[in-house]
Amino acid sequence: MDNRPIGVFDSGIGGLTVVDALAKSLPNETIYYVGDTARVPYGNKSKSRIQQYSEEIITWLNKKDCKIIIVACNTASALALKYLSSIFSIPIIGVIESGVNRGILMSKNNRIAVLGTSATIRSNEYEKRIKAAKPGTLVVSQACPLFVPLAEEGWIEGKIPMQIAAHYLAKIKQEGVDTVILGCTHYPLLKRTISKTLGAKVNLVDSGDAVVKNVTLTLEKTNGFSSGDNGKIKCYVTDAPSLFDDIASSFCFKKTEQAIQIDL
Ligand code: DGL
Repeated sequence: MDNRPIGVFDSGIGGLTVVDALAKSLPNETIYYVGDTARVPYGNKSKSRIQQYSEEIITWLNKKDCKIIIVACNTASALALKYLSSIFSIPIIGVIESGVNRGILMSKNNRIAVLGTSATIRSNEYEKRIKAAKPGTLVVSQACPLFVPLAEEGWIEGKIPMQIAAHYLAKIKQEGVDTVILGCTHYPLLKRTISKTLGAKVNLVDSGDAVVKNVTLTLEKTNGFSSGDNGKIKCYVTDAPSLFDDIASSFCFKKTEQAIQIDL
């Protein structure tokens, strides 16, 4: 048994979609979440900058004695996971592997789309991994950078988000994909808008739901489950917390404590 917290981080609010999924499946675990709201978005930054920011956050979470780190950011998972695993000894889990596995399982016609930030799509990580796991799969990749500020603002439905979604998803609609991987943890906040645009028959894969199994297996292997009976969610942000708190309380299944502003 290990009652230390699970550390989770993202560039902003998006990783809370992962926290939400973790809290539903592992309600006894305490989660420390860092949202790097002062430096969001990561999706238009360089690899070395994303590695530096991620390293700073994990160093901070390590000082809080976390037992495991979840990189609840596809951009950091695509560009920094290898680097981070090489410099820290604590187990670090990214979101891409689980999203790929779930997407492959769900697709019946082997036509999968991946939505992500510009940096994630440029890295080609999803396409490489899908094709390695299931050769012959058609993969359509699309960067949707404006979805991140929409999610950060809580502007997730209505005319403008629908217009932006229609613009980004036009090519995907023509390709006959049956499964779309939401390869950015901000995007599940726009799930309704994305689903309305693509039609209800298209499966949407959410990083949060997908990564839970991986985290559970890792805790099982290390005998790391908490023996407590009601885990807490503590949020830390790198800029003023007010907007973050409003949006977090609007979609998180479990009540998060008020976010605390930190310097990394
Ligand atoms: N939520 C993050 C991701 O999954 C990062 C979005 C951003 O900061 O651009 O990629």
